[in-house]
Amino acid sequence: MGALIDRCQVHWQQINLAAFDCPNIWLVSLSEPVPGLAGNKIAKLDAAFDTLKAGQYQGIATLGGAFSNHLLATAVACGLLGKPSLGLVRGQELDANNPSLQACRQQGMQLIGLNRSQYAERHNAAFIVHWQQQYPEYLWLPEGGSNEQGVAGVRLLDFHCSPAGPISHLVCAVGSGGTLAGLALGHPNIQLWGMSVVKDASLSRKIQVLALGQGNWQLMDAADKGYGRFKPEIWQFCQKLAEQGCQLEPIYTGKALYALVQQLRTSPLPNNARLAFFHSGGLQGLAGLRYRGLI
Ligand SMILES: Cc1ncc(COP(=O)(O)O)c(C=O)c1O
Repeated sequence: MGALIDRCQVHWQQINLAAFDCPNIWLVSLSEPVPGLAGNKIAKLDAAFDTLKAGQYQGIATLGGAFSNHLLATAVACGLLGKPSLGLVRGQELDANNPSLQACRQQGMQLIGLNRSQYAERHNAAFIVHWQQQYPEYLWLPEGGSNEQGVAGVRLLDFHCSPAGPISHLVCAVGSGGTLAGLALGHPNIQLWGMSVVKDASLSRKIQVLALGQGNWQLMDAADKGYGRFKPEIWQFCQKLAEQGCQLEPIYTGKALYALVQQLRTSPLPNNARLAFFHSGGLQGLAGLRYRGLI
């Protein structure tokens, strides 16, 4: 267990979904060691944090969208160690009033805006080599932190047993796939359902590779209008659940849980099943949605 996961406790909360004609489910979440570092990011950055702490690198370089949870979590993790970080941001113009980018800067993250075509190259070896040569003292993390080490961190999470007994199904939101892969590896006897909030035809293949061929997972479509876009019902759903102390946002957790509710209404699980939904964080994104007038 690395130093970040060690700082967290696992919380279980039962969510009442009667208003949505759906059986109650368990919500499992991690306590937030510091603001901005939450949910799946704690586990995904666990190994990188330890590597940085050990002094092998000066800082961390990574990339993401202008409201990215991963960018801020990386900046916060580096900030905890008093180390610098570099964020390559999708979008050439960096808006000085964007609350997520402001928070990244406050943590000492240097931000560089990339235009659409530059950002589209992010998975290519030449792109990565270029930035690694520019910042040779920095540990490089891919978008979403979904590399082997990120998956290994998520694998350490133990969500096997709710207060009511063992879990049969574990559900999470999926973007770049590392969270689902890590949970599948760490819970080999549990059925994993990944609710994809992106439209990405290559996602299933990516998860297969990250999950080292493990077969206890399936991907379901929760993308709705596409990544980052959501219909009003999803935000209404988030607001309704907030009334029982369950804070969600409509890009990842709210969208995924909403899709799960639709799924359980049409295809209920057997009575002896026990399902838990992983709250993967992302609440920092609410400020950005408010700032853009989207909620
Ligand atoms: C809040 C939140 N939930 C879920 C995910 C999806 O995780 P992954 O990219 O590992 O599929 C992300 C993105 O990393 C996220 O920010």
